[in-house]
Amino acid sequence: MSNRYTVFGQPIAHSKSPSIHSMFGELTGRSINYTRTESTPTHFAQTLDEWQQAGGKGCNVTLPFKETAAQLCDHLDQSAKDAQAVNTIHFQDGKRYGYNTDGSGLLRDLTSNHNFTITNKRILLLGAGGAARGTLGPLIAQAPHSINIANRTVDKAMALAASFPGTLCDLLATGYSDINDEDQFDLVINATSLSLQKALPPLPTNLFAAGALSYDMMYGTEDTVFMIWSRQHHAEQVCDGLGMLIEQAADAFEIWEGVRPNTETVYTYIKSELS
Ligand code: ATR
Repeated sequence: MSNRYTVFGQPIAHSKSPSIHSMFGELTGRSINYTRTESTPTHFAQTLDEWQQAGGKGCNVTLPFKETAAQLCDHLDQSAKDAQAVNTIHFQDGKRYGYNTDGSGLLRDLTSNHNFTITNKRILLLGAGGAARGTLGPLIAQAPHSINIANRTVDKAMALAASFPGTLCDLLATGYSDINDEDQFDLVINATSLSLQKALPPLPTNLFAAGALSYDMMYGTEDTVFMIWSRQHHAEQVCDGLGMLIEQAADAFEIWEGVRPNTETVYTYIKSELS
């Protein structure tokens, strides 16, 4: 019998996760069945109970349920504790084990797919919401030179930085206007939701150091305004978040099935589907 998985979200109709995981199943020779489940903030806890009781082996969780999912797990891995959010649950012996593979997915995309080394680099992390929080622990673990978290609401950036005390790299929290014309970064990550609104954070234009990589966590049928802006201002590599989506899914698949699928063919297929 196939192992059963689902992704919970609202909305969820356009989620690529069922296609991605079905391909992972084929590539690894595992028999899996992966569906989408729409829920609401009021009903999410109940829907999760029902899925577990019906024999689901695990699930992914996306917006807006990731923080609630963390509260509904029996055990949280360090990645989920750092992110204060869960995107992957594994049901074992009636217990819920929660993980967050968003940060490891980003890291894998940067380091393996884009050959970017984070150690000793100057990082600018734009945004201080859930997406930014999920990436901070894994980024810090790579020992960058510094991470500047810049956010419209500076208090949120400060609270986020304060939740990673004793960090070995320099961790700064600022507003956008605090970034000077002289400040340059090797890696700029857009973790705001601004690309959804086709808008840009207000940033100086000489932000990118030589060889810099600009990463937008969003992806879609076209390049985001942030990607276009980054190219115009001489970022050497410009990436969207599709690779992160596929790598975080591969990490979830490995947690459930014990084998990490090859992601290259899946990336190529989903990319062609989008365009
Ligand atoms: P997610 O879970 O996707 O990170 P979120 O927690 O709502 O979503 O965070 C959205 C991020 O985009 C925040 O950093 C937010 O800035 P604030 O904390 O100041 O709200 C940022 N963002 C959204 N709309 C923005 C806008 N119009 N200008 C600047 N930043 C914006």
